[in-house]
This record gives sequence, structure tokens and C-alpha cells, in this order.
Amino acid sequence: MNYLCCMLAKIDALIQEVKAYQARTSEDIDAFQQRFVHRKGELAQLFKGLPQVPVQERQAAGKQLNLLKQLVEEKAAQLQAAVDTSSTGKADDTEDITLPPMPHTLGSLHPLRLIQEKVVSSLVKIGFEVKEGPEIEDDYHNFSALNFPKDHPARDMQDTFFLDEKKEWLLRTHTSSTQVRAMASRKPPMRFVVPGRVFRNEAISARTHCMFHQVEGFYIDTDVSIADLKGTLHYLVQSLFGKESKLRLRPSFFPFTEPSVEVDMSCSLCDQKGCNVCKGSGWVEILGAGMIDPNVLKMGRINPEKYTGFAFGIGMERLAMLYYQINDLRLFTQNDVRFLRQFAASH
Ligand code: PHE
Repeated sequence: MNYLCCMLAKIDALIQEVKAYQARTSEDIDAFQQRFVHRKGELAQLFKGLPQVPVQERQAAGKQLNLLKQLVEEKAAQLQAAVDTSSTGKADDTEDITLPPMPHTLGSLHPLRLIQEKVVSSLVKIGFEVKEGPEIEDDYHNFSALNFPKDHPARDMQDTFFLDEKKEWLLRTHTSSTQVRAMASRKPPMRFVVPGRVFRNEAISARTHCMFHQVEGFYIDTDVSIADLKGTLHYLVQSLFGKESKLRLRPSFFPFTEPSVEVDMSCSLCDQKGCNVCKGSGWVEILGAGMIDPNVLKMGRINPEKYTGFAFGIGMERLAMLYYQINDLRLFTQNDVRFLRQFAASH
């Protein structure tokens, strides 16, 4: 037998051995390394002997030797990986199936969702129907049909996120846009409650955010008066906050209502003694409202000689702050589980 024949036989034997090698512990891996990978190991010795192989056969021997080298490297990596996972206790035979299972942790609804549901269900009880509208709106539904004339400064009351150069598409600045959609699809009498997110291009701070939640309510029928508006708002606030809570109406301006009011509620955080939420005044503004402007009814193809209506838009963040005694707007969006967990029992 010549050198080549012996060498090839040896390489083949080693290939079989490497393939079959098993390791249970890190010592086994060390032994493998010593035997094959080490600079005095089998592989190195064989490479050293390669120049002695006759020239014409050296190529074949080299090829086999490279194959062995590759196998050794792969095996070394494989063995290491197997030992790594078993030492983390993930291997099946190390799992203790008698341990008690991890308890399920209950999630909670977000306080804004909770307060929204309370408002909506109170209004549903007195005959309001739930409706939703799109968050991406066009100029017509958000502004024009609500009696905001083009280029009128009233449009600047609500800093708008426009979605195109022509300012045709936008993120709705208020849920009042659904009044327009309702009038286009229904004849009076109609009574709707519309919960939803709205967007304003404002810097985020402790008091303002660029996204917030409103619930719009509106009622159109013959003989709807401002007394009906006041009665509905009183009912709503007292059903949520109890009979002691008070409302205060201040004259205001909205293009789509006439007359318009802003409505404050007695501060339930400090019992009107003065705190940072009511800025020491004892009152907190929670909504805008008014009698639907005859122009808006006309644009919605409703005869203002025959029908009147009221509308209001309530800010959910403010209401939730009063209801759950939360004194910082930022808590709603920080998603701190310690904050959110407190609402698990409130469902
Ligand atoms: N849309 C108004 C706002 O977002 C609130 C409002 C609604 C006022 C309905 C009057 C009537 O500020």
C-alpha cells in the first residue's frame, strides 16, 4: 500500500468518526477539539503529511482532506449549540412538568374607552343611535358643509393636518363632520351619538395633544330647543358624576351652531376647591355645543323653517380626567402598565 492509499483510508475512517461523534457535556466537546481541531490534532497531522503524497495523487487526497476539515468545523459548531441550549434548561428532559402554570394576567380597557362607553350608553338609553364616520375626511364634510366659508379665519380655530397640496383631504378636526354625513343619509327626526378620534396640528404638551377623542351628539326634529340641549347635557353629566355635579354655559362661537356655547362642569377632582386641572377656578370646560345653524340644515337638505336641532361635542380626555381623577393628559398615551392596570376592575 502506498502513502496515498493509506492516507485516503485514514481520512475516510475519520470522516465516519466525525459524523458519528456525540457529545453530552462540555468535556466531550473539549475532547473533540483536542482530537481534531487542535494544532497537533488529526487534521493538522494529515495536512502536514500531504507533501509526501505523490504529486499525481495529491489532488485527490487534498480534496478529501478539505472535506474532512469542513465536517470537523460543522460538527464542532453543532456540538457547541447543543450543549448551549441544554444548559439553559430548554431541553425537554429538563422541563419540570409538575410546576404550576403561569397565572393569566387580565388586561384592562383603556380609561378613554371606558369613559366613551359610559357616555355612549347613557345617550343610547334616551334614544340616541350610534354612528361612526371616517377619520380621513374631505374639506366639504369637515368644513364647507358646516358653514366654514372658504378662507374664513374660523378655519384657523382648528389647526388642520392636510393630506394633499390642494387641501382637499385632511384628518378630521372634529366629529361634527358626521352631522353632515347623517343629514345626507337620513330624514329627521334623527338623534345620533358619534364617538371617534380627531386630529389637530398642535404641539404635544401636558395640556394638548395632536390626537384626541370626542363624542358628538345631535338631535334634529320639529321644536328642538336649547332647553332640550341643556336637559340632555344635565342628564348625561349627572348620570356619570352624580346629582351634585353642576354645569355652566358660556356664550361662544362655532360656525355651525347659533347660538353657541361652551360648557363647563364643576371640577370633581378638587370639589371646586381649585387644582391644576381646573386651574384653580373650580370649573373645567368639557364640551362645545349649540343650536345647529340653519345654513347647516339647508346644506343638508333639511328645511330650517320646519326643523331645528342641537349638537354638542364632548372631549373624552377631559371627562376621563375628571371621572378617574387623572391629573396629567400624557398618562393616556404613555401606555405605562402600572397606570393601565388600575382600570382592570372598572369594566
Ligand atoms: N366640533 C366642536 C369642536 O370640536 C365642538 C362642537 C360640536 C361645538 C357640536 C358645537 C356643536 O370644538
